[in-house]
Amino acid sequence: MNIAVFASGRGSNFSAILKAIKKGVIKADLSLLICDNPKAAVLTAAARAGIKSALVKRQDFTHKEEFENRIIQCLEEEKIDLIVLAGFMRILSPEFVQKYKGRILNIHPALLPSFKGAHAIKDAYEYGVKLTGVTVHFVDEEMDHGPIILQVPLRIKENDTLESIERKLHKIEHKIYPQAIKLWTEGKLKLSQRVVMLKDILS
Ligand code: GRF
Repeated sequence: MNIAVFASGRGSNFSAILKAIKKGVIKADLSLLICDNPKAAVLTAAARAGIKSALVKRQDFTHKEEFENRIIQCLEEEKIDLIVLAGFMRILSPEFVQKYKGRILNIHPALLPSFKGAHAIKDAYEYGVKLTGVTVHFVDEEMDHGPIILQVPLRIKENDTLESIERKLHKIEHKIYPQAIKLWTEGKLKLSQRVVMLKDILS
């Protein structure tokens, strides 16, 4: 089974997933990194680990469709089964999402459907919520939207700062993203309309 991670930045989730694969927690290969940002640290992490990466920059293509076709070509070359979005800062087209329906996961640092978007941690902190968390979900045509797979809450304490909350949320992410991927690779997640069923997990 072949996994592709899509990332645009730091790559801490990429590294956590790779670690889980190396430990045998996830029985699959991390076959490809798709990155759209030449300055992303995740590219260095992939190179160090000997993971193949494809840098596909949006600005090299006139139309989004051409950009995504190049990505699809890379995915097909590596026979990718599962796409894992980990801080990929581009919205995939409805056509792309349809093509890989049920085979794209995303992680978001808030309790969806609250605080969608690129600044979720800061937005939740500034709003003053007492409870935030992390969501792993299947990707559909809308941003930060789709059937929820796992959600882990984090209670915000009085002495927490934006930085301490970020640290705690990332720690949760690094635990639950590999778990969700493991469930998918074991065939334990089923997309049934808008309900995700954890087959054999909760019984
Ligand atoms: C994570 O907080 C993830 O929830 C969000 O983007 C961030 C990526 O972080 N979608 P990293 O690049 O994996 O360190």
